[in-house]
Amino acid sequence: MTRSTLILVGALAALASAAVAADRRAIISAYGDPAGFSAARGKAFFEARHTGGKPETPSCTTCHTANPRAEGRTRAGKPIAPMAVSANPERFTDPAKVEKWFRRNCNSVLGRECTAKEKGDVLTYLSSL
Ligand code: HEC
Repeated sequence: MTRSTLILVGALAALASAAVAADRRAIISAYGDPAGFSAARGKAFFEARHTGGKPETPSCTTCHTANPRAEGRTRAGKPIAPMAVSANPERFTDPAKVEKWFRRNCNSVLGRECTAKEKGDVLTYLSSL
């Protein structure tokens, strides 16, 4: 590649990653004012053992592990890509996907939907890693 092609490719990659970061910010903002969310609270929620859901999935870490930079595993043993944005830049860029899995996983773990605040805290935590 010529030098100018390399510069162009680099600029396009930077633009694409800026657009992805903007999408993620918009998804978090849809749950409330980002200034009101807490990564520490999100971490505590993600790691806690909850009651009310299915006994075999008491925690988000049951599948995603306590290390979001690492690969997780479904109950059936299939790998789940890392949840930390630093390890997996594609995380939390499609609002429909985020909502679908929050609904499903919160019901499994807590027996209810997560609140907007819980979702904002979890996304803030996983985006901060
Ligand atoms: C039974 C296993 C399991 C449990 C327990 C679980 N998850 Fe998940 N989660 C998955 C799978 C499978 C996916 C979809 C595959 C993927 O995104 O890599 C997923 C995806 C997600 C996504 C969408 C990620 C994206 O890129 O948009 C979010 C958000 C999420 N989980 C949050 C949670 C939270 C919060 C909890 C705890 C309340 C939790 N999960 C508990 C298996 C689980």
